Amino acid sequence: MADAGTGKAPRGAPPAGGGSMDGLLATKEIVVACGPGGVGKTTTAAAAAVMAAIRHGSKVLVLTVDPAKRLANALGLDGIGNTEHRVPDEAFRSAGVKPRGQLWAAMLDTKESWDALIAHHAPDDQTRDEILANPLYQNIAGRFVQSHDYIAMERLYEIHSASDYDLIVVDTPPTRNALDFLDAPQRMADFFSSRLLRWLIVPYRSRLVNVATKPFYQIADRILGTEFLADISEFFILFQSMYAGFVERSDAVGRLLSDRRTTFVVVSTLEAVPLREAEFFAEQLTNRRLHLGAIVLNKVLPDYLRGAAGASVAESMKERAEEFAAQLSPTLTLVDPVLGDIDQIARVLTEVADGYLNFQVVALREMEERSSLSVVPDVLATVPFFETDIFDLAGLIRLGEQIWD
Ligand SMILES: Nc1ncnc2c1ncn2[C@@H]1O[C@H](COP(=O)(O)OP(=O)(O)O)[C@@H](O)[C@H]1O
Ligand SMILES: [Mg+2]
Repeated sequence: MADAGTGKAPRGAPPAGGGSMDGLLATKEIVVACGPGGVGKTTTAAAAAVMAAIRHGSKVLVLTVDPAKRLANALGLDGIGNTEHRVPDEAFRSAGVKPRGQLWAAMLDTKESWDALIAHHAPDDQTRDEILANPLYQNIAGRFVQSHDYIAMERLYEIHSASDYDLIVVDTPPTRNALDFLDAPQRMADFFSSRLLRWLIVPYRSRLVNVATKPFYQIADRILGTEFLADISEFFILFQSMYAGFVERSDAVGRLLSDRRTTFVVVSTLEAVPLREAEFFAEQLTNRRLHLGAIVLNKVLPDYLRGAAGASVAESMKERAEEFAAQLSPTLTLVDPVLGDIDQIARVLTEVADGYLNFQVVALREMEERSSLSVVPDVLATVPFFETDIFDLAGLIRLGEQIWD
């Protein structure tokens, strides 16, 4: 953090960006990992939670959205839906560490979460059962007004208020627009106080007698079936009893995001397109007075690629490929006579050297991108591109160590 004492940047000066994830996670209760798709949000969220459980000795939950199958397996999340589940110490032992705290994990099940939300808001058991059994509800619960975005934040709220985690790290859904889930609580509140909805809940029968709308309903009846219209009507009438609760709840969820205990970690790669998107997102967070805790630059090419020494070797390998090939040929022939072909060896050397030089260009461009970052979070972390996917605790710890100090 820019100023470890107060957690605030000195007045007038931009934050130094010199803070650590260790410090950030020690002072926050909710961390929202967000950013463009495919950059490593889910992995980073899991790695941050793992580290906090190991190092801080706290009770940590990672709420994942779309973990890759093998990662879900590693966290013991296979087919368990919304249930929070403790990652056994045994799993940590296999990775060679002994956590001081506890790591819990849960996956976001949209349908299950909606059902729970209905149960929470329904005025009585009968209304609850009727809504849950309503075919329209069943059909749209998974798709309802960007329900995925909203429900992720809603679940976060629910867990935060109902349980005793010291830290909750929440992964975000792959949205078309990273801002969608920030707007989701407001959109939900707007929807439940909208005129469209009021109109929809004017009882079906009384709408039928309205001369102006009659032709519409006659056609709709024929196309969709009376059954469907009745379902719609019934659904919204049942829902009516829950509007106030929904609006209040959406407001509370929105407030939680801007709470001082909540911080956002924006994950990106250093490729131009995702980075611009991440930067825009980080700016939006700041504009909305949400806390931009960290930017994690993931899958970054290693430092050595930018060094002059490697480039000199590659240049010389290209220029003197024939000569080096002739020197290598006898050794390779000893391994297998077909490997001794001087022309082939020279070609391979040239290609390898070219490949190296191309990577160097990308690595240099990445650093330019990095230094052109216009937003300065408390923590700026860089994670190398590992040679394999990250699918187990050991991998998460490896990544976590990169972002920690
Ligand atoms: N630093 C890294 N090095 C190598 N592979 C990575 C790295 N970070 C993430 N990955 C891999 O990239 C893929 C996408 O990561 P994921 O966390 O699911 O992205 P997102 O949630 O942003 O869509 C996964 O297969 C993951 O193992
Ligand atoms: Mg993901």
